[in-house]
Amino acid sequence: MDDILILGIESSCDETAAAVVRNGREMLSNVINSQIEIHKKYGGVVPEIASRYHIGAINAVIDEALDAAGVTMGDITAIAVTYGPGLVGALLVGVSTAKALAYALEKPLVNVHHIKGHICANYIAHKELEPPFVCLVASGGHSHIVYAKDHIEYDIMGVTRDDAAGEAFDKIARVLGLGYPGGPKIDALAREGDPYAIDFPRVRMANGSLDFSFSGVKTAVINHIHNLEQKGESYSKADIAASFQNAVTDALCEHTIEAAKIKGADKIVLAGGVASNTALREKMKSKADIEGVSVLFPPPVLCTDNAAMIAAAGYYEYISGTRADMRLNAIPSLPLE
Ligand code: KG4
Ligand code: ZN
Repeated sequence: MDDILILGIESSCDETAAAVVRNGREMLSNVINSQIEIHKKYGGVVPEIASRYHIGAINAVIDEALDAAGVTMGDITAIAVTYGPGLVGALLVGVSTAKALAYALEKPLVNVHHIKGHICANYIAHKELEPPFVCLVASGGHSHIVYAKDHIEYDIMGVTRDDAAGEAFDKIARVLGLGYPGGPKIDALAREGDPYAIDFPRVRMANGSLDFSFSGVKTAVINHIHNLEQKGESYSKADIAASFQNAVTDALCEHTIEAAKIKGADKIVLAGGVASNTALREKMKSKADIEGVSVLFPPPVLCTDNAAMIAAAGYYEYISGTRADMRLNAIPSLPLE
C-alpha cells in the first residue's frame, strides 16, 4: 500500500500549527507557532488577537512544516484541519486555509475534532498502541473520560460539570501570581511544597457518575488565601500549589481508574495539556499499577496543542472515508458525539 501523508492544520486556540504525519504514526514534522508571549500580559487568551496572529502566521507555518518534512504539497495525500471545538475566529483561519489549499491543489479535505486529535497524539508516541482503551483528555478547555472503541469512535464516560482541569490550574496560578499558562508553573512550584499541607475538597458526584467538578476546589483555594491574607498571616505558595494539584490529580486518577475497571480495560491513555503534569503522570501510573492497568501518555510537546495530533486523527478519519467539502465551517462548541 502507498504511504498516506497527511498535512495537519491546527488553529483552535493560541497555537498556529502545521505538521506532516506518515500513515498516522510517523511524525515527519511538527511546527508550532505559540502566541503565549503575546497573551501573557493579558493573563489569558484574547480571541480577537489570537485570530489576527493566526492569519499572519499560518502560511509560513505550513511552508515550514512541508520543508521540515522534506516534502512538497504535491506529495501530500490529504489535508486535515481542526474545525472545532475552539475559538471561532481562530478556527476559521485554519479551516479557510485548509479549504483554499484543498480546492486549489485538488486534495481531499478531512475535518478533525480537536479532542480526537489530542487522543490520537498517543498513536504517534506509542507505535504499538491500539484501541480499545480508556482515555483521560484534560486540557485548558476540556476534561473528558472517554472509551476509545476504535480509532475514530468514542463513548463519553465522564465530563466536567464546570471548569476544565487546565482552566482550574490557570485560575489558581493567577491567584498565586504565577502567570499564564498556569499549569506548568504550578507543576514546577508544587515540587517544592507539601501536597498534604492543606486538605482541599475532592468532589464526587452522586449515583456513581464519573463526571468532574473543579469549581469547589478552586473556590476553596481562593477562600483559603483570602482568609490568611485578611489575618495578615504569611503562607507558602508552594504548599498551596502542591495541595491544590494533589486534590485535582486525585479526582482525575480516581475517576479514570474507575472507568477502566468498568470497561475491563487494561490500558489508560492520557491526553491534553494537563497530561504533561508530572504529578498526574506519576500518580496515575502508581494507582493504575495496583489494578494491573498500564498508563501511556505522549511527550509534553504532543500533549499541548499541536498539528501532528490533528494529522494522526486525520489519517484514521481519512482511511474511514471522512471527507469535508467547501461548505466546511468552524464549529466553536462541536460536541464529541
Ligand atoms: O491541550 P491544551 O494545549 O489546550 C487546550 O486544548 O485547551 O491545554 C492547555 C492547558 C492549559 O490550561 C495549561 O495550563 C495546561 O494545559 N497545562 C498543564 C501543564 N502543562 C499545560 N497543566 C498542569 N500541569 C502541566 N504541566
Ligand atoms: Zn487542545
